[in-house]
Amino acid sequence: MTTIDEPTTADLPWHLRENRAPVTDEVTLTGLEVTGSIPPELNGRYLRNGANPLTGTSEHWFLGDGMIHGIELSNGTANWYRNRYVRTPLHANPGVDRMELGYIDPETISFNFEISTANTHVIGHAGKILALEEGAFPYELTRELDTVGPCTFDGKLTTQMTAHPKTCGETGEMLFFGYSSLPPYLTYHRVSAAGELIQSTEITVNGPTMMHDFVISRNHSVFMDLPAIFDMELAMTGGMPIRWSDDYPARFGVMPRAGGDADVKWFDVEPCYVFHTLNAYDIGDEVVVHGCRLNEIWRDGAEVGDPDSISDDEAPRMWEWRFNMVTGAVSERQLDDRFSEFPRVPDSKVGLQGRYGYTMSTTDDKTAGEIFKYDMADGGSRTSHVFPKGQFPGEPVFVPADGATNEDDGYLLTFVHDETTNTSHLTILDASSIESDPVAQVHLPRRIPTGFHGSWVAD
Ligand SMILES: [Fe+2]
Repeated sequence: MTTIDEPTTADLPWHLRENRAPVTDEVTLTGLEVTGSIPPELNGRYLRNGANPLTGTSEHWFLGDGMIHGIELSNGTANWYRNRYVRTPLHANPGVDRMELGYIDPETISFNFEISTANTHVIGHAGKILALEEGAFPYELTRELDTVGPCTFDGKLTTQMTAHPKTCGETGEMLFFGYSSLPPYLTYHRVSAAGELIQSTEITVNGPTMMHDFVISRNHSVFMDLPAIFDMELAMTGGMPIRWSDDYPARFGVMPRAGGDADVKWFDVEPCYVFHTLNAYDIGDEVVVHGCRLNEIWRDGAEVGDPDSISDDEAPRMWEWRFNMVTGAVSERQLDDRFSEFPRVPDSKVGLQGRYGYTMSTTDDKTAGEIFKYDMADGGSRTSHVFPKGQFPGEPVFVPADGATNEDDGYLLTFVHDETTNTSHLTILDASSIESDPVAQVHLPRRIPTGFHGSWVAD
């Protein structure tokens, strides 16, 4: 199967044009062309999720059916590329809205959390591979990307699950939350390193805030109660029912990881929205949070990412907040003026003070993409890998090298789309020498659409 999809036309909505257009088939490809040398210690699968509407169209970039793209590597060889839809009730009923499928029962005002696009992230935890979407249960997948079914942690999960759980780099515990348009608006969960759900706790927030992500430190979980809130009037008209509110306070809540609602210390911050945090850590009396901050979002509508319409206020930039747990003081500052999103740190550093963070550049350079490397020990100074003209990477995922001694001894993996050939490749960069040419590229005879988040799931 080597067909190259034709570029789509300019009259489609932004999220369906060019490389955001869905691919129309599922394939398994072997005998992949490789340039460079795949590091032999990379044994596992790089997986990435994204919205790929089965009908070819969707109301919003965030609403298409989840499709996982994966490449398996072992002993210096690329064994296969696969792309597979996550088999959800929405996939089984193409074109049917989740409300029509019974996502909310109007009699009992309760949710059916099996109704999911499962399109946002894919992670490994406790031997399971989970596809995630923030309005529903996770969906378990096999190593070959076939769908097992919804995962409820043995029936213990009774709320939505965010697509951005945080697995502690030290303990392997997975911490997450579910947010809802209906009370209770926020519920916090802890899953042990062995995969057992051991805590579910309601947390009080000011209203139905869209909480896409959160962050953990060694001792704390940090919630972002920000002014992007669910709007019933917008919900009745279809599409993305979220709007900005100047009346809704922006605040971060810091809670001991095994704590509860009464333990949350809330800190007012400058109004903002944060889709994605980089990481957090405890130091002295402070909790330090890094993330990609927008001044505001969706004041005039919920379109995202369109380079032709994004305003400076809606551009993401690397930011630092410091919360003093003793005095209640907050300080915050911008670390970089470049547009920077899809932040990641090494899995082993989640919740801990690490030195480096990695992001991809967004819309301020339309000719080629970049992967950024931030050195937080140097005030957030930035270096970057600049891709050749017409090549655009996604979120960079760090994988450590065998025998690593420095934090950046390892590789950055991401799918890259080449506009000049309309094909994609997996690129493997040396994280310790990010400016250098890729260590290896695994070439595909077709494109992988622009997507969301992914993971390296080691054997
Ligand atoms: Fe996300």
